[in-house]
Amino acid sequence: MLPKIILYDEIPADLLERLEQHTDVTVIDTFKGIPDTELHALLSATEGMIGVGETIGPKILDLAPRLRVLSTISVGYDYFDVPELTGRGIQLMHTPNVLTDTTADMIFMLMLCAARRATEVHENVRQGKWREAVGAEWFGSDVHGKKLGILGMGRIGLAVAKRGYGGFNMEILYYGRSVNEQAEKDFQAKRLPLDQLLAEADFVCVTLPLTDSTKKLISSRELGLMKPTAFLINGGRGPIIDEAALIEALQKRVISGAGLDVYEKEPVPADSPLLSLPNVVTLPHIGSATHETRYAMAKCAVDNLLAALASQSLVNCVNPEALQHAS
Ligand code: DGY
Repeated sequence: MLPKIILYDEIPADLLERLEQHTDVTVIDTFKGIPDTELHALLSATEGMIGVGETIGPKILDLAPRLRVLSTISVGYDYFDVPELTGRGIQLMHTPNVLTDTTADMIFMLMLCAARRATEVHENVRQGKWREAVGAEWFGSDVHGKKLGILGMGRIGLAVAKRGYGGFNMEILYYGRSVNEQAEKDFQAKRLPLDQLLAEADFVCVTLPLTDSTKKLISSRELGLMKPTAFLINGGRGPIIDEAALIEALQKRVISGAGLDVYEKEPVPADSPLLSLPNVVTLPHIGSATHETRYAMAKCAVDNLLAALASQSLVNCVNPEALQHAS
C-alpha cells in the first residue's frame, strides 16, 4: 500500500504527478479552519507531509501518530519545533543549496537599490518630478569598493561575499559562530566580533537563520554602532532585527537606509511606517521567488520526502537524531 501523505501547498503538475505515483496524496490549502473531526480522519494514517508556511504544532502532531517525515519547501525551518519533532521520531527535511544564488542575487539587489535610492527615484520619475538633470538631492552612494559586513557566513552569506568581492571589489567582513575557511581563503573575508563589524561596515547584510540567539540581535544599541552612512539589509528573517528600533533609527537617520525582504510580521502591515519611509526598500519575502528556483525547491522537497519515506534518507535532513526515536 502506498504511504498516505498530505500536500499543503501548490506544486507544479509534473511534481504532483510524481508524488501521486509513489504516495497516496491528499491535497489541502491549509490546516487552518479544518474541524477537529475532519482533522482526525485526515491525519490518523498520514506518514508524510509536504508544503511551506504552516505551523505544524502539537495539535496536528498528536492527531498524526504515524507521521514519519515532514518536508518543508524552504531552506528555513523556524516554523517548526525541531526538538519536538525529533522526540517524536519525525524527520524534518528542507531545501538548502537550490536557492542560494537566487537569494544572494536578491540581497545584492536590495543593497544596490537602497544605496542608489532606486525605488525612491523611480517613484519620483513616475510622479513626473524629473524635470531637469538630476542634482545632489537624488544622488545615492557607491556600492563598489565599500566594506560589506555579512552576518552569518553560511551558504547564502558565502554567495553574497562572492558577489561583493569578485564583482564589486568590496572588502568582506563577517560575523558568525565559526570560521569559514573558504570565505577567508577565496574572498579574504575577516571574521569580527559583532560590534566591530557594525562599526566598520558600509553595508550590513543579515543572512542568519532565526534562532533563540539571533532573535532581536540587531536593536537600538547595535544600530547606534553603525555608521550614519551605512545601510542595513535583511534577507534572513524579520525577527532578527528589532523592527521598532529600526524604524526609529531610519526616521532619525541614525543609519542611511535599509533594504528589507523579511519582517517581524508577514505580510508587513499596511500601516507600518516602513512602507512610507523614503530610505527603505521593501520587498515581499521574494528571496527565492523566481520560476526556476521555486521549481527547484519544490522538486528538492518532493525528492526529500520520497527518499526519506522509502529509506529514511538523511540527505537534507535537519534532525538525523530523529531516527533514534522512530518506532
Ligand atoms: C526559505 O526557503 O527559507 C525562504 O525564506 C522562503 O521561505
